[in-house]
Amino acid sequence: MAEVITAEQLTARIAEFEPSRSVAERVLAVIDRDDIGAAELATVVGTDPALVERVMRTANSVVFSSQANVRTLQHAVAVIGFETVRSLALASFVEGVMSVSRQDWQRSVMSAVGAAAVARGIGLDPQLAFSTGLLHDIGHALLESLDPSYAAVVGAFRAEPLTASSEAALVRAERGRYGIHHALIAGDVLAYWNFAPDIVEAVSHHHTPKGSLSRLHGAIVDGYRLTHWLASGLDLEEYSRADDVLLPTYLRPENLHVVAADVRSRAETLLEDLFGIPASHASAR
Ligand SMILES: [Fe+2]
Repeated sequence: MAEVITAEQLTARIAEFEPSRSVAERVLAVIDRDDIGAAELATVVGTDPALVERVMRTANSVVFSSQANVRTLQHAVAVIGFETVRSLALASFVEGVMSVSRQDWQRSVMSAVGAAAVARGIGLDPQLAFSTGLLHDIGHALLESLDPSYAAVVGAFRAEPLTASSEAALVRAERGRYGIHHALIAGDVLAYWNFAPDIVEAVSHHHTPKGSLSRLHGAIVDGYRLTHWLASGLDLEEYSRADDVLLPTYLRPENLHVVAADVRSRAETLLEDLFGIPASHASAR
């Protein structure tokens, strides 16, 4: 059995990578100030060309703007919102200090786009759902960076349709190996970086839902449930054979295919824009 890993060890691992030199860390620091505006935040973002590119591309993507004509960084920050800038900064930071697999980014982007789609239907801010969805599974990358054998654990989970029993088994396996599971780890990391309590709650409980804790929690859960199905490559009927299969609850079953096609298309665009992953390779399986 692997050593028990504490949340403190995991967050310390994030903190130990020379954060004072990181533009992303500076973004995460200034974004919490009450007096920060889009112009000043854009100035900080502007010192990291890679982050600038991601912010601009996100603002011009179909996920956020139907006009797709955002020309300045300040406008881009205003369009995507501070929470999404924060998520992109943290994603850049994590990407810079540990290996995040292409498959993990694909799943995260698809979950984020799925959560945003659900959010639109339930009167929730899609930017908030997108930025939360982008980071909800960051615990996988942390566990993989600490324990190479973890990939096999999560790989087995992803290979089967998502059911209440498979989800419980993953949480149980992670608790048994590490004393904590990846959703709680992700919540701890986001709390460490001062993400809002509702975001931390939604992420921490995305695999242990006791009913819907909040609309944001519901959107995140539905986003990853949709992604799990899309990534399986199975048609819905085959995927849904198990009695306890978990499908999105906020999306009507008759709308699932339409929403899924839209989410897949938007996610492929973002994957290409943000991570340079061509659409032809954007299967999350
Ligand atoms: Fe997860």
